Amino acid sequence: ISLKPYNTFGIDVNAKSFVEINSLLQLQKVLQLSAYSERFIISGGSNMLLTKDIDALVMHINLKGISIVEENDLVVNIKVMAGENWHDLVLWAIEKDYGGIENLSLIPGSTGTAPIQNIGAYGVELKDVFISCEAMNIDTLELEEFSKEDCQFSYRDSIFKNSAKGRYIITSVLLKLTKQNHKLLTFYGAIEDELRKKGIVHPSIKNISDAVIKIRQSKLPDPKKLGNSGSFFKNPVVSKKTFKSFQKKNPEAPFYKMENGQYKIPAGWLIEQCGFKGKRLGDAGIHEKQALVLVNYGKATGEEIWSLALKIREEVKKQFQIIIEPEVNIIK
Ligand code: EPU
Repeated sequence: ISLKPYNTFGIDVNAKSFVEINSLLQLQKVLQLSAYSERFIISGGSNMLLTKDIDALVMHINLKGISIVEENDLVVNIKVMAGENWHDLVLWAIEKDYGGIENLSLIPGSTGTAPIQNIGAYGVELKDVFISCEAMNIDTLELEEFSKEDCQFSYRDSIFKNSAKGRYIITSVLLKLTKQNHKLLTFYGAIEDELRKKGIVHPSIKNISDAVIKIRQSKLPDPKKLGNSGSFFKNPVVSKKTFKSFQKKNPEAPFYKMENGQYKIPAGWLIEQCGFKGKRLGDAGIHEKQALVLVNYGKATGEEIWSLALKIREEVKKQFQIIIEPEVNIIK
């Protein structure tokens, strides 16, 4: 079976076999009956680059359901099963006027994978609304709870990319959303501009979501039309010393100062300076409106995209002495 419909890059590789997981019981059974090396987990498929056929049983996590676990006048705690599409969840919350995830509108992928890389956009990260998640331990087949602390969230990172990698399957996520006194984050320049254009002075969470959708649509390609995985690289985080010497040579470069005193430099800017924006090598390319996004114009293989990524990384290193790391999980 082709995995093309199951990864947003639209890479056409085959899986040896495939099973859709619709219940926890089924998940347990399939794990019981297969060896570690014989299986491969896929969920939203929005943060991976497949570079070869998968010689294993591909398990597509399709656990569904959203339920209210607890609520009072101010907040609501919702439990969301891993296979729920993230953006559909955002729309559901906005419809109910539950606040907290409106800035995370239109992020592709499923809810169960959101904690893995602590998805973030426009000043909000998953960790800001996260209470805990449940994950199945693939050795014991028991469900274990991970509190926010357990998850060790940081910029595009969590325990699930580190010590817990490959050992758990996230089955559900518990989030805390606001029912009133929504904490609106509109300081992000592009959101402010968008609201101003529409003459909105007191925005609702719906207004913010609409603005974010508009901004994302204007620079990020729709994976349904053009295969991609969002930002391909993480924005590099460097020490103050490295940053100061970088800034001396590149005074015009945008940057964000982080709480811990380090600096984040937009990889998209670095890549654009290297002349890659809008370039294309066969069917692998760099998006014309956002250099941080690699795209598949149709028939690119994962290897072609990966070799383009390596070329970009090499050039950025040569010109700026800064190493950029992929955000996307490369399956080799
Ligand atoms: N820039 C360029 N050229 C480009 C792209 C960006 O010069 O081709 C400059 C922009 O002008 C701006 C700066 O780089 O000054 C930052 O760009 P932008 O605000 O578009 O955000 P980003 O750093 O490119 C990050 C996230 C996005 C998230 C946006 C908004 C990462 C790796 N990416 O992108 O997340 O939507 O901020 O918060 O942190 C994703 O993870 O898939 C993703 C899309």
